[in-house]
Amino acid sequence: MLISLKEALAYGEKNNCGIAAINTPTLELLLATIKVAEKHGVPMILQHAEVHDPVVSIDDIGPAMLELAKRSSAPLVVHVDHGESIDFVRRGFEIGFNSAMFDGSRLPFEDNLAQTKEVVELANEYGHGVEGELGVMPGREDGVDSAEGVGDTSLYTDPDQAAEFVAETGVTALACSFGTVHGLYKAEPKINYDLISTLRERAGVPIVMHGGSGLSPAEYRECINRGVQKINYYTYADKAALEAVKQLLVDEPSTYVMAPVTVAARNAVQNNVDELVQCLYEGQVA
Ligand code: 13P
Repeated sequence: MLISLKEALAYGEKNNCGIAAINTPTLELLLATIKVAEKHGVPMILQHAEVHDPVVSIDDIGPAMLELAKRSSAPLVVHVDHGESIDFVRRGFEIGFNSAMFDGSRLPFEDNLAQTKEVVELANEYGHGVEGELGVMPGREDGVDSAEGVGDTSLYTDPDQAAEFVAETGVTALACSFGTVHGLYKAEPKINYDLISTLRERAGVPIVMHGGSGLSPAEYRECINRGVQKINYYTYADKAALEAVKQLLVDEPSTYVMAPVTVAARNAVQNNVDELVQCLYEGQVA
């Protein structure tokens, strides 16, 4: 069933959980993620990033995401991730996505604020929530450009700006830079937990973690305790899929069709996302 971003975040706050937001640009990622949500009956977010449009267009994968979410027993949000223009967000809403992130984080502050405000106005026409982003996240969420800039504090979100940004734009949640990076880590993540607490207090809305792959259970937990309520996750789930496929081709070199490959990939994603969910929804899942 479809639920709103606000409802998912409220569940996270009430139960001290991080809502898992998984990018699903392949059918393997999509089916496996829904299976995990159904197994545990917890709210999760299916999302499509604009940067994944060359892999599969939102016009193709979007209706599948929506149809599967609507008919699922699990409470799911269908969310546009990293919309880089208002047109891409509008395209998502027209398909039926019920939540969106606008990423103006690489724009000057005033431009980010003005464009995010426009996206919030558009979303208000539908009654949908919007996630904004302030502060620069190193790396790209397509896994192509591996993450650099770990621990570069000049990229972190400024709490004064966060307070102003949320008050002016009316976003539902705020993606912030506090030490995580998109893609593979080239060095240990250095998370500034005190900054998360300050951002949560000053922004007054749930904080979103991007670059959710590769943290330890203790690191996820502490981020959630400090105010992170949505955790974006993609690279390690898709990496697990590829590793399973490579292993299958070693174990079964005579494989000559794609079907067993897709099943191996889906099972690997399922195990990987299940492990994440055990950690993010501690106390709520068996
Ligand atoms: P990872 O690919 O590092 O897990 O990050 C995903 C993300 O932040 C999508 O917006």
